[in-house]
Amino acid sequence: MGTAGKTLVFITGANTGLGFEVAKVLLSRPDSYHILIGCRGAISRGKGAVARLIESSPRSTSTAEPISVDITDDISITTAFEYVREKWGYVDILVNNAGIALDTAVTAGRITLREGWNETYNVNVTGTHLFTTTFAPLLLASRAPIPRLMFITSGLSSLAEHADGVSSRYTLAPPGLPKPDTLWFPYRVSKTAMNMLATEWGRVLRNDKVAVFNISPGFLNTGLGDDRMTGESRDKSVMGAIDPLIGATFCADVIAGQRDEQSWPVKVLRKDAIQPW
Ligand SMILES: NC(=O)c1ccc[n+]([C@@H]2O[C@H](COP(=O)([O-])OP(=O)(O)OC[C@H]3O[C@@H](n4cnc5c(N)ncnc54)[C@H](OP(=O)(O)O)[C@@H]3O)[C@@H](O)[C@H]2O)c1
Repeated sequence: MGTAGKTLVFITGANTGLGFEVAKVLLSRPDSYHILIGCRGAISRGKGAVARLIESSPRSTSTAEPISVDITDDISITTAFEYVREKWGYVDILVNNAGIALDTAVTAGRITLREGWNETYNVNVTGTHLFTTTFAPLLLASRAPIPRLMFITSGLSSLAEHADGVSSRYTLAPPGLPKPDTLWFPYRVSKTAMNMLATEWGRVLRNDKVAVFNISPGFLNTGLGDDRMTGESRDKSVMGAIDPLIGATFCADVIAGQRDEQSWPVKVLRKDAIQPW
């Protein structure tokens, strides 16, 4: 099936988790998308994801293809950019979904605390920004009435809720030492930084009529936080994580333009509320 006339969507980190589920929801809908399934490392991982997507919606009018991109690697970003530029010359929707939380790897002693912090920032902030910077010209070249740029932030990123002590998983530390480096600390700090990133991109692209969204999809039962080096995955539903399909349906609604009236000024959107900064 060709891609002409289809909305071109690029989702980073879409071989698994939320990104994969977003693609799955889009394929199940009547609108026609061509979805670039971003995956880092071997392209076979992306091919496997595309095969599973087609299996989930065999009669879809939408299509998908894998694309290799590691957002911490400038050459990888540029290679992906050149491919999209040469093949289409534009992108309609860019979803900055790739993200990591390395706490398990740090706790297990596989990487140092500094490596954990730096790599978390490298993916969730620096890599996300540089990927966006590289691809922004393709968003501007979109002929869609409203091109969309999306960031996926976290419920843990809210400064206001954290300071008020109402943030999810907020607990006071017991008195005395040691004061451990709290689980999810680098992750939540990086996502707070990403909130500013999204706000900045909203400002920068405002006069180009690109709608910028910062989505807080809820606590989802995905592989986030699992140690990729061991391949061990934990079921987080016992901790209250919900079906990723719920967050994915919300993201797909944003992609489809159902939330456009909420795009400006940039805010943190939860499915049913605005997340306090
Ligand atoms: N799960 C939640 O509760 C939750 C809540 C709020 C926000 N989010 C956000 O949702 C997004 C998706 O997370 P998820 O829950 O679906 O987690 P996930 O299952 O761990 O998926 C994360 C995806 O990002 C990819 N990725 C990691 N580093 C990358 C890099 N350097 N370059 C390109 N891709 C990279 C991963 O690839 P590999 O497979 O190669 O590791 C994977 O495809 C993240 O931004 C996360 O912060 C998640």
